[in-house]
Amino acid sequence: MRTKILIAFLLVIGASFYLVAASTIRMVGDSLFEDTVRAQMTHVEQLAVTLAEQEMPADAFYQRLLEAARQSGGRLLVVDTDGKVTFDTFDERCGTRLALSEVYAVLDGEKDADYGFHQQDGEGRRQAASVLDRLSGRDLNQIWVGCFCAALWRGGQRTGALVLVTSVQDTVDSLTSMRDQMLGVFLLALAVVLVLAGFISRIVTRPVRELSDGIERMSKGDYQHRVHVPGKGEMAQLAAAFNQMSEQVHNLDEARNQFVSNASHELKTPLATIKILVESMMYQDDMDPQLRREFLGDIDKEIDRLSSVVGDLLTLVHIDSHKLRLRREMMLFADTVRESAARLAPLAKKRGQTLTTEIADSCEMFADPGKLAQVCYNIIENAIKYTPDGGTITVTLHRMGRDAVLEISDTGVGIPAEDLPHVFDRFYRVDKARSRDTGGTGLGLSIVQQIVRLHAGSVTVSSEPGKGTTFTVQLPVK
Ligand SMILES: Nc1ncnc2c1ncn2[C@@H]1O[C@H](COP(=O)(O)OP(=O)(O)O)[C@@H](O)[C@H]1O
Ligand SMILES: [Mg+2]
Repeated sequence: MRTKILIAFLLVIGASFYLVAASTIRMVGDSLFEDTVRAQMTHVEQLAVTLAEQEMPADAFYQRLLEAARQSGGRLLVVDTDGKVTFDTFDERCGTRLALSEVYAVLDGEKDADYGFHQQDGEGRRQAASVLDRLSGRDLNQIWVGCFCAALWRGGQRTGALVLVTSVQDTVDSLTSMRDQMLGVFLLALAVVLVLAGFISRIVTRPVRELSDGIERMSKGDYQHRVHVPGKGEMAQLAAAFNQMSEQVHNLDEARNQFVSNASHELKTPLATIKILVESMMYQDDMDPQLRREFLGDIDKEIDRLSSVVGDLLTLVHIDSHKLRLRREMMLFADTVRESAARLAPLAKKRGQTLTTEIADSCEMFADPGKLAQVCYNIIENAIKYTPDGGTITVTLHRMGRDAVLEISDTGVGIPAEDLPHVFDRFYRVDKARSRDTGGTGLGLSIVQQIVRLHAGSVTVSSEPGKGTTFTVQLPVK
């Protein structure tokens, strides 16, 4: 495709160059020859008139001819009405016929004056050539000459014709050299255009090649390749957008791999535990019923873990694939908070913790009560889990401007500063062992964050290790 366009482009350039060169040469040539013709014709016609006016003997006439020929730098001949040469300043052709069409045109009365250009071929074959045998004194094979012919009159009758023969080789030479020069310029320009076209097309297509190369690499799974297109043009913008996209794809790819490996690990651990427990029960026929019950209890716990991991995973996958639709309705957020706290109260009580709720506003809003209950439950459950026995958990709800603000503070172990930015990451757990003991999957807070975001709200955390942690959820009211 590109080569076709290039060839067409070159053809157009070449054709226009040729046209310009050809018409320039023609125009210059025309004007050069026109000038010559006009000058010589005027000269020969005037001479014919002057010669015809005066009666003079042949000798004097011949002297006048010689004089005029010397002045004009050419050769003068006089022919009679039959076309026979009667005078020749070169004194060679007297008595012979001058078979030139322009001479016959004048003698026949077709025209009063006429001219023609002839080329001498060096061998004297042509009439024109023989006319000019010694004209220029040059020993060239080919010489262009002009024959300018005017009728001679006497008493209103044609008595013959005067013929001036001069070399026009200089004019032809300068035209030829001009043509050669133009050809040279034309070829040079063509070469320059060719080189430039190649150069420009390379420059123009380089970013495109870079990009298509990048896209190809990306389609083969190389997300780390970046394209380099300097400048600020559209191509550079496109390249920047492409790089941004491949970075995002790269991140997504890594996150997906991480997620899959974490999820598999999370499922593998309880499965391995179940397998060990089941196997030891299989090979111990005379197992103590008390121990057997303990084993079965452990298996039951692991199955609970499995189903909670699977449940959390499903929720996340749902949110990720944008399939999760909020079932919004007019609701009182205060009710949701109160209910969640009430459901967790027995757990707190079991650990001797004080769980208090302070609700300053009912916070009516258009939201999904089930999902918001999940948010409250997860955060309060965390607070209970990560607070030692006898600690205090405080849940407060109030309005601030157009937002409902839910704060859940505890007097627990806290979160180290370096872990704070990651607690919302999937599978992230500060203390792996403790979290597993308490049945955590590490997915709770990431689900919380997703749900809050779906409600156009925000969730933040602040913590002091050893003193306690506060989670703040902000949701727009209506
Ligand atoms: N109130 C809290 N106090 C201390 N650490 C917390 C608290 N809430 C969450 N964390 C930390 O954040 C991690 C992620 O929480 P989460 O996503 O709910 O997972 P988990 O299943 O472990 O509860 C927890 O493992 C824990 O280390
Ligand atoms: Mg949790």
